[in-house]
Amino acid sequence: MTSLKILKEIKVISFLDNRGNLDVAEFQSIGKFETKRIYYISNVPESESRGAHAHKKLEQAFFALAGNLNMTVTDGCITETVELKSHEVGYFLPAGYWRDLSNFTNDAVCLVLASEHYDENDYIYSYEEYLEWKKSG
Ligand code: TYD
Repeated sequence: MTSLKILKEIKVISFLDNRGNLDVAEFQSIGKFETKRIYYISNVPESESRGAHAHKKLEQAFFALAGNLNMTVTDGCITETVELKSHEVGYFLPAGYWRDLSNFTNDAVCLVLASEHYDENDYIYSYEEYLEWKKSG
């Protein structure tokens, strides 16, 4: 396990045999996490990045179903960058952190599990606003 302060690793167990692949992620290590919504991001050009926002209340878990990509999270003081790779660990991101997703390989598919339904008011899209929000909290 990598030593991380913001992200929590979610172990993925892979069963790979001549019938194909089956990957399992168990959520015991992150405590209670209810999924109300999933989405997945794919076909991201190499020069593009995603994310660039924070959520006030939303908790999320991130996995690479195929390919790989980088995720950087920060609270303005601590910054962590991890590589998401298929058949390897996923990551739980608690509420209240800024995130950027970048360096997608052509084949990368990023699965995101979300604890709440979509709510545009839960987003902070400006990094300056995020730092203000963090200070005021
Ligand atoms: P966006 O927040 O830009 O995606 P990312 O986090 O990958 O950068 O979302 C792209 C569009 O999709 C935006 O118009 C909002 C919409 N959207 C929904 O309608 N529902 C959802 O659950 C999500 C995640 C996004």
